[in-house]
Amino acid sequence: MKNIKAIIFDAYGTLFDVNSAAKKCKEKIGEEWESFANYWRSTQLEYTWLRSLMERHKDFWEITIDSLDKSMKYFNIDASMKDELLDLYQVLSTFPEVKITLNKLKEKKYKIAILSNGTPKLLNQLVKSNNLENMFDDIFSIEEAGIYKPSSKVYDLPVKRYSILKNEIVFLSSNTWDVSGSGNYGYNSIWVNRNNNVFDNLDYKPKNEVKNLNQLLDIV
Ligand code: 2OP
Repeated sequence: MKNIKAIIFDAYGTLFDVNSAAKKCKEKIGEEWESFANYWRSTQLEYTWLRSLMERHKDFWEITIDSLDKSMKYFNIDASMKDELLDLYQVLSTFPEVKITLNKLKEKKYKIAILSNGTPKLLNQLVKSNNLENMFDDIFSIEEAGIYKPSSKVYDLPVKRYSILKNEIVFLSSNTWDVSGSGNYGYNSIWVNRNNNVFDNLDYKPKNEVKNLNQLLDIV
């Protein structure tokens, strides 16, 4: 890709494995742990969209707690597990190739950043607990825009901070709707399709599709 000035990553699901919290408790949760993790994640995302539409903002940590509460009730998980799951959610693991890929990208002298629904505190904790402190020029949180993705106000944040054009940004997300949102906005958006998923019909075709972040190094 030509004329790229910044490479920006979504956080949850793209750099950090959102299912890793429930996975670490899989013995206690039982065989439904993965369905539970997926339900928690989809409820959490629905709440971000609904709250944006209702104009009733709550931050991502509060939404994570609210969606966990509903999911635990739905799956009949003992309330005593709540604190353990929330503690683990603050130290989610990265996918295995993340650190090495970021290190290699750093040599190429792009701006490297995160753009996420997470609060600044949550994102800084994740970066710190995974020893990624020196990897990012910026960590953009939607809290600065006061509304969740896929609002254009969110995708505007790096464009304004760096005074660059939308199409000088490569954005990577494993969330199809985030690729569609950012691509419709004007980024060069790449879909990180880790699980052989099907893409959306939302007026945007990803600029590229990769199976993991490592493959980005062949593109930029
Ligand atoms: C993020 O903003 C969408 O979860 C995704 O990090």
